[in-house]
Amino acid sequence: MSYPVAVLASGTGTNLQALIDACASTAIDARIVYVATNRENVPALVRAQRAGIPHGSFTIKTYGTRAAAHEAMADAVVASGARLVVLAGFDHILAPAFFVKLAGVPVINIHPALLPMFGGKGMLREKVHEAVLAAKAKESGATVHRVHPDTVDLGEVIVQLRCPVLESDDVQTLAARVLAVEHEAIVEAVRRCIATAEAAPR
Ligand code: GRF
Repeated sequence: MSYPVAVLASGTGTNLQALIDACASTAIDARIVYVATNRENVPALVRAQRAGIPHGSFTIKTYGTRAAAHEAMADAVVASGARLVVLAGFDHILAPAFFVKLAGVPVINIHPALLPMFGGKGMLREKVHEAVLAAKAKESGATVHRVHPDTVDLGEVIVQLRCPVLESDDVQTLAARVLAVEHEAIVEAVRRCIATAEAAPR
């Protein structure tokens, strides 16, 4: 029975697409049961629609506050029966109420760097790659980690994959190389979470 997974995204959704494709090719024994975004009209929602996956957007504009939006999002995720939640390019810090409603369903996140380096509040997207280049790091990569309430980029690491940083790199070329590594890491992380959950005593 394929493992039910919910995915939270904010924009382009290429990590979501990597998971959609991995489920379709049975590279992982999972099915995406819900896609939620914190923005309307983003490509991630189109990817969900094309794949026939139930989806919804939960914006602060609609719900009034971040907490209210995240609680409504949690209700939809719980209703979907998801046993794992994947933050795939999701750019908000989840309100504690989200975790309360999930009542123990694990949440994992992908970060475009080798945590604990180049992580933390505000370290999003191109800011991460700018910091890596400024530090003259020789390698970067992607980290998938557990997410706990009121923390940013601090949970237990599940998967970490590396890639080189080239002398010739700029933010765009480094971001593209890291993104390709993210797509591998996020699929491997879901695979490992399923294996761990299914090995756990019931
Ligand atoms: C990616 O650049 C990644 O670093 C971060 O969010 C960005 C967009 O990812 N996770 P996606 O294409 O929306 O999955």
